[in-house]
This record gives sequence, structure tokens and C-alpha cells, in this order.
Amino acid sequence: MIQKRFGSADTTGRKLDVIGEYLSMYQKALGNTNFETLYIDGFAGSGEVPLAEHTDNLFDEDVRTVIAGSADRALNVDPPFARYIFIDKRRKCIDALKAKFKDSPNAERVNYSIGDANEHIQKICRAEQWRSQRGVILLDPFGSQVRWETIEAVAATKALDLWYLFPAGLGVFRQISNDGTVDQTHEASITRIYGTDAWKTAFFEPSKQTELFGEPVTKEKVVTPESAALFMIERLKRVFEGGVMDEMIPLGKHAYPSYYLLFAWGNASPKAKALANRLSKAAVKATDRKHGRIV
Ligand SMILES: C[S@@+](CC[C@H](N)C(=O)[O-])C[C@H]1O[C@@H](n2cnc3c(N)ncnc32)[C@H](O)[C@@H]1O
Repeated sequence: MIQKRFGSADTTGRKLDVIGEYLSMYQKALGNTNFETLYIDGFAGSGEVPLAEHTDNLFDEDVRTVIAGSADRALNVDPPFARYIFIDKRRKCIDALKAKFKDSPNAERVNYSIGDANEHIQKICRAEQWRSQRGVILLDPFGSQVRWETIEAVAATKALDLWYLFPAGLGVFRQISNDGTVDQTHEASITRIYGTDAWKTAFFEPSKQTELFGEPVTKEKVVTPESAALFMIERLKRVFEGGVMDEMIPLGKHAYPSYYLLFAWGNASPKAKALANRLSKAAVKATDRKHGRIV
């Protein structure tokens, strides 16, 4: 199935490898305990990720490489999760997943939903019995689709570990002009992803320049993609009682961090805290060997 290209081999591969490693380590640690384990993919895609890669051949504009997407990697984890929920807004993606997984030995474990991830996830977080369940949720949007209330709902379960592809460059930094102006739609979208308008003071400083092209200038933009991601990390720390990974993984094309991969976990029991901390670090380290260390 043709899908929008959304990454270079290197960074999309790293994201999926980190998540795949984490899921595999998570299931090795929890898959045979009394907890029922659940994997939720809010932006599940089609199961395959087409990558645009440069080639030296002048007659080929690019070479199409396809790698396994997040849902495929999750379903193939050994031992498998007890249950899987795959959500995507596009019916085409869900149909592609159903076709791909129909003969999987884990097919019976999967529940598919078509629609907005925010609505589905908030409902799931309220409805499930979290006392007997533990799980991992992946939020891997193209842009600024994840609302803060969804993040709050995930944290409130105190049972889910969250991997979040946060669009710090694409959804925040790029939407703010250098003179500090933000159009109304982007202003609302930034407030929606952070769940606060405190960014309006944090991301600007009084301008040293008073005039630009005859127009008065009062403030200037000081936010960077990195500081936009750090601002989200601070927000995550307020609601995730387990913790938030200090390391944030920059992802994007041409060394521009359109996104940062963030990780947070809601379970504050000392055992769970230590486990999530240890496994997330190990998952990142495991991919350093393949993709090079992040500096
Ligand atoms: C970056 S892709 C996900 C890739 C996937 N994680 C993988 O590894 O194969 C983003 C997906 O989000 C879906 N999408 C966009 N907006 C959505 C929304 N509000 N709710 C659920 N899915 C959405 C798109 O249809 C697309 O398949």
C-alpha cells in the first residue's frame, strides 16, 4: 500500500528499533508474570514504513525501501502481549493491518479501531481495569495531533509506559516566527499539545530590537526545537508519577530535529520505576550500536 513518506532510513529506523527493543525487553520482564500485558498503538499506520533514500544512481530519483512498522514489530514480540489495540484514523491503514496480520499466530489478540486516537485512548484509559494490567502505548503522529488530555489520561492509568514522538521542531518551533508572532491556528495547536499557554512566556524574551521594517517589535523568539521538547518533558513530569526519561532522541531529516522521541511511565512503585528506567536506557543503548550514538 502506498503511504506518505515520513522519514529517512536512519531516523525512522532508529525510532522503530528503540521501540522494538523496548517492547521485547518489556515482554521478557513482564510477559510471564500475573499481569495481563497490553500494547496500544494510537497512530498504528499500515504495518509497513516506506522510506525515501538517496542513491548514487542518477537515473533513480530514490530507492523505495520498506521496513516493518510499529504494529508489526509489536505483534512479533516474543512472548507476545496478551492484547493489542491498533488505532488509526484511516480505514485504509486498518484494512492493511488486518490483511497483514490475518494469519499471524497472535491475530486473536488484536482489536482494531478506526478513528481519532485521542478519543479512543481517553476512552480506553477510563474503561480498562488497570489493577491487573500493565502495558505500553505508542503515540507516533505525523504532527500535532496528540492533545494534552490524552497524555493526562495515559498517565492517570499509572499502568502504562508511554513512547511519544513529540513534534518539537515541526509542531512548535516552526510555527513561531522570529519576531514572536504566531498565527491563531498554530497558537491554539501549541496550547493543545502542551495543555497550557505558559509557553507564551517561556518561549520569548523582550526584544533588543525595537523596530523591524517600520513595525514595533516587543519580543523575540528564543525557543529551539530542543527547548520545546524540554518544555514537554517538564509537562510530562507533572503527570507521570513513575518518571520521564532524561534522554530525548532527536529525529528528522538532514539533522533537523523535527521530532524528539520521549518516554514516560506512570507506575510509581519502586520496582516498576527501576524497571522502566533500566529498560528504556537499555533500548536506546542497544540501538546506538546500529545507528551510532546520539550526541
Ligand atoms: C507516522 S504514521 C504512524 C506510523 C506507524 N507508527 C508505523 O510505525 O508504521 C502516522 C499515522 O497516524 C494516522 N493518523 C493521523 N491522524 C490521526 C488521528 N488523529 N488519530 C489516529 N490516527 C491518525 C495516519 O493515518 C498515519 O497512519
